[in-house]
Amino acid sequence: MPDQLSKINLDHVPQHIAIIMDGNGRWAKQKGMPRLLGHRSGVKSVREVTEAAAEIGVKYLTLYAFSTENWNRPPAEVTALMTLLVETIKGEIRDLNKNKVRLQAIGDIEALPAATYKALMDGIEQTKNNDRITLVLALNYSAKWEILRATRLIAEQAQKGLLKAEDISESTFESALSTHGIPDPELLIRTSGETRISNFLLWQIAYAELYFTPVFWPDFGRKELHEAILNYQRRERRFGLTSEQVS
Ligand code: IPE
Ligand code: IPE
Ligand code: MG
Repeated sequence: MPDQLSKINLDHVPQHIAIIMDGNGRWAKQKGMPRLLGHRSGVKSVREVTEAAAEIGVKYLTLYAFSTENWNRPPAEVTALMTLLVETIKGEIRDLNKNKVRLQAIGDIEALPAATYKALMDGIEQTKNNDRITLVLALNYSAKWEILRATRLIAEQAQKGLLKAEDISESTFESALSTHGIPDPELLIRTSGETRISNFLLWQIAYAELYFTPVFWPDFGRKELHEAILNYQRRERRFGLTSEQVS
């Protein structure tokens, strides 16, 4: 597959791309390597895809790095993933600043192991003034958790008399989500051939274009991102209207 960069319309690039980075384990297994090496190789893809997204003007990139359900994996894998996260965040801060990447996180991050939480908070603090692209890591994230938390926050406000039930709007709800201030993703990519959402961004992807590729995450790079964006640009987004209305 040749690189499709020259075919991309740079005036019509998604503002926000979300990715379910899947297939690290199968990538490693296929090569007879331990799963952890798949996760390590996945970091390379994170670097390449973040830079490729920034280069063509994507403003937000949200990466699903660890789901709430992932705690149920074998403890050794969970520990290794948390260690890899700390190492990666610490090791990347310099380059994130050099490339003007702002780091953010969504999910129940306070419940992460202390070292992971600290590395993450340091990374967020030290990159907060960068404005080329925002890299949002979904960590200990679950969309149902996020929706429940938003509901509780809103109910508390109502209990205190700060909000009336009839005044709860989409924007009230959005401001209670952990993605508040971030536009909804126009494009959601999942690698590794699985065609499910796995509890990711349920509210925010209401009208996202979905793109599934069989490529395992460690093999997904600049060229694959360009291919996904080109595929997105060939689609007609109708938002309930007819084709005649939107063209
Ligand atoms: C994605 O790769 C990374 C995480 C979920 C942390 P997987 O580890 O799910 O890889 P497969 O799906 O087993 O191949
Ligand atoms: C989804 O991948 C979560 C992340 C990519 C972090 P999983 O590999 O955990 O998803 P399932 O279990 O196949 O749905
Ligand atoms: Mg998986």
